[in-house]
Amino acid sequence: MTNKTSIQGSWASRWIFILAATGSAVGLGNIWKFPYITGENGGGAFVLVYLVCIVLVGIPIMMAEVFIGRRARKNPINALVDVAEESEGSKKWGLIGLMGMLSGVFIFSFYSVVAGWVLHYIKVMLTGEMANVTSEQAGAAFGALLADPATLLIWHTIFSIMSIAVVAAGINKGIETATRIMMPALFVLLLILLGYAMTTDGFAAGVDFMFHFDASQLSWNAVLVALGHSFFTLSLGMGTIMAYGSYMTKKASIGKTVLAIGALDTIVALVAGLAIFPIIFANNMDPAAGSGLMFMSLPVAFGQMPFGQLFGVLFFVLVGIAAWTSAISLLEPTVAFLVEKFEMKRTSASILLGSGVWALGLACLGSFNVISDVTFFGKNTFDLLDYITANIMLPLGGILIALFAGWVVKDKFAQDELELSDTVFKLWKISMKFTAPVAVAIVLYFLLFPMS
Ligand code: PFF
Repeated sequence: MTNKTSIQGSWASRWIFILAATGSAVGLGNIWKFPYITGENGGGAFVLVYLVCIVLVGIPIMMAEVFIGRRARKNPINALVDVAEESEGSKKWGLIGLMGMLSGVFIFSFYSVVAGWVLHYIKVMLTGEMANVTSEQAGAAFGALLADPATLLIWHTIFSIMSIAVVAAGINKGIETATRIMMPALFVLLLILLGYAMTTDGFAAGVDFMFHFDASQLSWNAVLVALGHSFFTLSLGMGTIMAYGSYMTKKASIGKTVLAIGALDTIVALVAGLAIFPIIFANNMDPAAGSGLMFMSLPVAFGQMPFGQLFGVLFFVLVGIAAWTSAISLLEPTVAFLVEKFEMKRTSASILLGSGVWALGLACLGSFNVISDVTFFGKNTFDLLDYITANIMLPLGGILIALFAGWVVKDKFAQDELELSDTVFKLWKISMKFTAPVAVAIVLYFLLFPMS
């Protein structure tokens, strides 16, 4: 283990690292995306593949990211270069960090637009505009929001500024404290919603939909989406967890810490699905309704339950916070790089990067209205950036990190950080060398050369 510290500072304790990394992992991916992609990909079989990917691919790669970051205590590009040099590998491995930064920029641009929808729904819940809506009305209200670029722009801008401000302030005590209160609160609210969902007529159908394994529902595309989502939801393949790992204290056990983060992230996603699908089925809505699923279903539920308005406001506030703690982590690796490489001030680096991602976000929010006819490979800008990051760039980043950790880094250096028992270390090595890269390679192959 090295005694270095990052010039950016370090987390106060192992728990703060868990909280910060969980804050990064738990976000729109869990509450907004997981339910809707489960809906689009047929339910149970998709959920099972997703869980397998988390355990066999996601968790081992997360361990690799944390140890590389912690060993070098630098931004992802330089961390990869340093760890490569220590093991006499090529400096070119640093390029993975570069691709990661690009992924962060792309993800932030559409993430901030969706977070903007969440902020809008806080307002809508507060004003009671959606009290007692039917599912048709909730669908129409969501459609009207997407068709209104000015409103989308305001919320996207507010969210971008919120995120840039936190990153500019450094590894911020404020957000650490907020995460400590808000993550449990989010969880409690999800449980309340789950409790409500259990009282609806759709609960059995919801559970069946999520946990009934029907192999005929599984396509290669669904496997790709499940694999890609396991990277997205754990914030892997782009250096975020590496950057966070570089601020981690020496004493903490990487294996246990990573397991805790993976478990929390998975539980939140499953509970979100169990809260949302019963409402969908009870109101005869379409589980494959796509990205509006949460925004069209939950207002209906809040409209019908006691204290629904209060819970509605709280729920969207907490989703907003979950999105916020993830969004800052999308910017952190690049900001750390700009500060360390070009000796920029953190504030200037954050504003520079933030302006860029905000501008790209304009193309994403316009995808639903003014530039909806601009498409690439049949996808609008929003869908394209979502698709190429989650399904191509993050898995590719992940496969390369795995190959690097498995084939280039010397065992003694990896074990120096990981401190696993011999058996667990062997299993981890197998995952790095073979399981993770082969799984990703097979899926990407079938994406590029589909079986017809
Ligand atoms: N994990 C976040 C979510 O599930 O919403 C999204 C994300 C954050 C992806 C940070 C990648 C990342 F580096």
